[in-house]
Amino acid sequence: MNNDLANTIRSKVDIVDVIGERIPLVARGKNFFGVCPFHDDTNPSMCVSREKQIYTCFSCHATGNVFSFLMNYEHMDFKETLKYLGDKVGIDTGSVHIKKKTTKFDPYYKAYELSLKYFQNNLQSGIGKQAKEYLAKRSIDDKIIKEFEIGLSLDTRDDLTKLLMSKQYDLTTLNRIGLSSDDHDIYLDRIMFPLYDVSGRVVGFSGRIYKEVDQNKYLNTKETDIFKKGEMLYHYHIAREKCREAKSVLVMEGFMDVIRASTIGITNTVALMGTALTKEQIALLKRLSNQIILCLDGDSPGQKAMETLGEVLLDQGLEVKVVVLPDPDDPDTYILKNGKEKFLGLVESALHYSDFKMQRLKQSVNFRSDEEKAGYINKVLEETAKIEDPIRREVILKRLAKEYDIGYNTLEMRINSLLKEKPKEEIFTVPKKKTSKKDKYTKAYEQILYFMLNKDWIITQVEKEKIIFPTEVMRTTCSEIIYYYKKYGNINIADFYTYIQDKENILEFLNSILAEDYMEDTTKDELFLYFKVVKEYIRKQEIQRLTNRMKKEVDPIEQAKIVEKIRKLRLGDS
Ligand code: UTP
Ligand code: MN
Repeated sequence: MNNDLANTIRSKVDIVDVIGERIPLVARGKNFFGVCPFHDDTNPSMCVSREKQIYTCFSCHATGNVFSFLMNYEHMDFKETLKYLGDKVGIDTGSVHIKKKTTKFDPYYKAYELSLKYFQNNLQSGIGKQAKEYLAKRSIDDKIIKEFEIGLSLDTRDDLTKLLMSKQYDLTTLNRIGLSSDDHDIYLDRIMFPLYDVSGRVVGFSGRIYKEVDQNKYLNTKETDIFKKGEMLYHYHIAREKCREAKSVLVMEGFMDVIRASTIGITNTVALMGTALTKEQIALLKRLSNQIILCLDGDSPGQKAMETLGEVLLDQGLEVKVVVLPDPDDPDTYILKNGKEKFLGLVESALHYSDFKMQRLKQSVNFRSDEEKAGYINKVLEETAKIEDPIRREVILKRLAKEYDIGYNTLEMRINSLLKEKPKEEIFTVPKKKTSKKDKYTKAYEQILYFMLNKDWIITQVEKEKIIFPTEVMRTTCSEIIYYYKKYGNINIADFYTYIQDKENILEFLNSILAEDYMEDTTKDELFLYFKVVKEYIRKQEIQRLTNRMKKEVDPIEQAKIVEKIRKLRLGDS
């Protein structure tokens, strides 16, 4: 592995900047705090240390350096984070080769890769003529076909199944991963759109009919170990970069909408593949941007869905805007009919969610009824109270006053009382580390390891004193620290994280000790007090071991020897 290069790159970036670009951080003392993105939270329990160049969450115990943050947050692999940060600081990472971790799902991904190639070949061959014509009629040219890796399944019953079986896949596996049903193919004579997971690997397909047949328009891969529809968003892996540049994400219903938008250069897009939105998908959206532009279909279910989804997203503290397309257009057909500029115009003039909500409220009101009218105005005021910006609130009140001939003061009084009901923003407090119930020996051992991670000279002392750690994970952590120190000549936690990134047990252990309130530095005298505690522990263990042995011993001479050993240990001169 390229630890030297990784360490160089890491030393040139500031973790506070990298995390700060993604989640708001507030400075408190030496550290920065933000809402941890790795668990469901609204309190700032993540601490980012500029000095140590690491982050730790006091609540979920997520911890690591800038690489682990990006890997977890952006779903990049190590190589991608290296390249991304290398590009930032002008270091070439072209020659970097990192062995990929192998998992039990590798054969599944491989099967999907093979299927993808197979479908793509079909479409490009003579058999694909009619499908190609269909795509051309929908203005999907070869460039798009290539970019979105569109393919074609055949109506020959079991071509793909046979192909995969010739590559050593058995039917049980093929059935489990949603490529075959019994001994035949699932996808027959459909245009195949690959579906990607958050890292951009193909994990499923959506197959569309293209002839006049009496079948469901789209057929999707069933849920499998690698394909969870509710945990992905179509196009996420591409949108990741684009949304940061555009500072917003456009949310559409269908992948055809996303594909169409990309033909006019709009790529900060994802598709829900329907109108539902899960908790996991919201978390993904949050990672893309805090400015969400809903752009679902213009029909009534689409508008209804935007009303529901907008509310949910708003509750998550996101900024929500809405593009309302004329019924029955979807982004795909709208762009085809009206072109790029018109569509961009619509996006640019997207409504704030609150304005959209008020428009919709208005549609169902009978203004000849005073009661309905008053009810409507009250609802509008409730919506207006949710708006943070006081200027926008005033604009709305003025408009209401004029439109319905109501005194401005009456409206203002009502909104002020609504605003008072709103719970105040919580005052920011630095989270406290929890005091855990570990015994004094465990604490002493952990403290020693934490010293080692911070101060070189303590590593030398631990070696000299031949400190033995009581658990397997402590022993491996200790030997990795020593190994790292010998190899690089110094130690810091941030780089050590890179080195142990694949060693899950050590990572987990580090997380647990970083959550404690251990010291970073000490004096030699104090260090020896810790050594004394752990040596006392070792002695106690040894006495226990000998006592057990003595109980089993039948030879009185041997027994006497053991008693003598125990006596010496008790005196402390072993
Ligand atoms: P739409 O019906 O809006 O898709 O469904 P579309 O993009 O307009 O499709 P075309 O233009 O007719 O080809 C939106 C999404 O809902 C899912 C698909 O993921 C689609 O992208 N869907 C729709 C299905 O899964 N099955 C269906 O039968 C229909
Ligand atoms: Mn549609």
